[in-house]
Amino acid sequence: MKKQIIWSILCLQQTFFTKFVSMKRAIIIGASSGLGRRIALILLHQGWQVGIAARRLEALEEVRNTCPERVTTARIDVTAADAPERLLELADRMGGMELYFHVSGIGKQNIRLDADIEADTVETNALGFTRMVGAAFNYLATHGGGHIAVISSIAGTKGLGPAPSYSATKAFQSTYIQALEQLANSRRLPISFTDIRPGFVDTPLLAGSRYPMLLDAGKAAREIVRALNSHRHVWIVDWKYRILTFCWRRMPNCVWRRLRLVKTE
Ligand SMILES: NC(=O)c1ccc[n+]([C@@H]2O[C@H](COP(=O)([O-])OP(=O)(O)OC[C@H]3O[C@@H](n4cnc5c(N)ncnc54)[C@H](OP(=O)(O)O)[C@@H]3O)[C@@H](O)[C@H]2O)c1
Repeated sequence: MKKQIIWSILCLQQTFFTKFVSMKRAIIIGASSGLGRRIALILLHQGWQVGIAARRLEALEEVRNTCPERVTTARIDVTAADAPERLLELADRMGGMELYFHVSGIGKQNIRLDADIEADTVETNALGFTRMVGAAFNYLATHGGGHIAVISSIAGTKGLGPAPSYSATKAFQSTYIQALEQLANSRRLPISFTDIRPGFVDTPLLAGSRYPMLLDAGKAAREIVRALNSHRHVWIVDWKYRILTFCWRRMPNCVWRRLRLVKTE
């Protein structure tokens, strides 16, 4: 309760201040839980106007209640064909968008290769991702530019046996962002890009299984926002995972193919 009151006072102070300074507007897709929700709260604290979207509107409303003056919500399912339209409506309601942050994603270990899990992951992380990031790119291309950030994963830096579609779709996301950055430069568009690649973070995505080197979600979100504010092109969260990925990327493929990352019995 006390925390809520302090937060509301801080929020009112920021709102008052930012009325007289140009207010930056961010849209975060996938802000109903985990990293997206934490990133939204940090950006609010930094004075941003924030548009938050996901499928669970009630969870988004909880975030909105912390600072109703500067939060706009929308129910958007990235797997739905009309999702880009919903995104443009949200940007319209906010009076514009300078930052598009794509956080939405699903992921499961799938060592039995259940076909539904593989297909759902591709639909959300590849197809849904492409339609949303593409819509954001076209919006920024015609509205004076801005910043596109995405959360991919270190899982995209190598093919991981325990989660084939997750690993492959995260590689897709990183490659897609790299391609869009080259495209924006070729077209001389003032759009910058950030590809955030976290290691294992303690969020609902990983609930139910045990993972090594688990990162605290709040700490990871703060590092992500720092990378965002300094316009990093690619950022791996955190330093331990920077060392790990540095090593495994140099591992010969003949060794990588034989690594046993799952116990089969
Ligand atoms: N946790 C980790 O260890 C880790 C590591 C590397 C990368 N990541 C990536 O970080 C991102 C955030 O995940 P998290 O760890 O914070 O997990 P999370 O708490 O499960 O958050 C996932 C978010 O994605 C949204 N989402 C899922 N499907 C959606 C859809 N069809 N349409 C719109 N929104 C959808 C969820 O909202 P609704 O369910 O309300 O729609 C939720 O807000 C994901 O892209 C994940 O792959 C996580």
